[in-house]
Amino acid sequence: MQTVAADTATRWLRRWDAQQERYIPDREERFRVVIDVVREVTGGGPAGVVDLGCGPGSLSRRLAEALPRVRVVGVDADPLLLGLGRANTDPRVRLVEADLANPGWADATGLPGPWDAAVSSTALHWLSPADLGQLYRTLAANLRPGGVFVNADHMGLGRPTLDTIADAIRDARTRRAGTEGNEEWGAWWQALQQDDDLAPLLDARSNMAIAHSGDNGLTVWQHAELLRQAGFAEAGPVWQFGDDHVLVAVR
Ligand SMILES: C[S@@+](CC[C@H](N)C(=O)[O-])C[C@H]1O[C@@H](n2cnc3c(N)ncnc32)[C@H](O)[C@@H]1O
Repeated sequence: MQTVAADTATRWLRRWDAQQERYIPDREERFRVVIDVVREVTGGGPAGVVDLGCGPGSLSRRLAEALPRVRVVGVDADPLLLGLGRANTDPRVRLVEADLANPGWADATGLPGPWDAAVSSTALHWLSPADLGQLYRTLAANLRPGGVFVNADHMGLGRPTLDTIADAIRDARTRRAGTEGNEEWGAWWQALQQDDDLAPLLDARSNMAIAHSGDNGLTVWQHAELLRQAGFAEAGPVWQFGDDHVLVAVR
């Protein structure tokens, strides 16, 4: 398991958060909403939470900071992002490497079930609809009755004019938030290649099993339907700005 010095990781994590805010100007507020849902469902008591597609653990860390009795296991297939996250995690946060398209990811968490909650941010649009359906069934099998899955992501509205308006208001919001000039996704990844301190993590990443990006194009309504088909009792958005949603599914 490769990691890096904490100060190197901190520098890249700050840059990661700023880069993500270029695309999600309300990312911190969206994280707070996810945390509020988990707090509501767990009552602030001891709970096990899984963070799907955790990347370098931005949401995992914020959850552990906000909810002192929660243990979080982040799952991601990218050893470089995991390595950055592991250098900086709270002891109540564990980050594990697994491909979410393979149902074995649930065992890889090492978190005994049933789980109280699973969360995700800006990650599941990378999975094909078939892989996502399987992931939702795995989640339904592992969450306790009344447990929740909370997914914060861009999920379209499925209506051409509404989707155009959603894009326009996000661009306007990004300008108001002052994040439109933040580093781009591609530039962030290119800059990483120049940092010799990251050589072992870059090497670990060269054999990564998953593709580097993707977009399944599913609308928020299609996500909700897939979740109901997977066995969730209720599913729908509780927060929205344009196509940016926090979708909650109750087991
Ligand atoms: C845009 S990043 C978001 C990371 C983090 N959740 C955040 O909000 O900062 C998307 C993440 O999803 C992960 N991911 C995509 N497909 C995956 C898969 N099949 N298995 C595991 N992780 C996956 C990527 O490796 C990446 O870390």
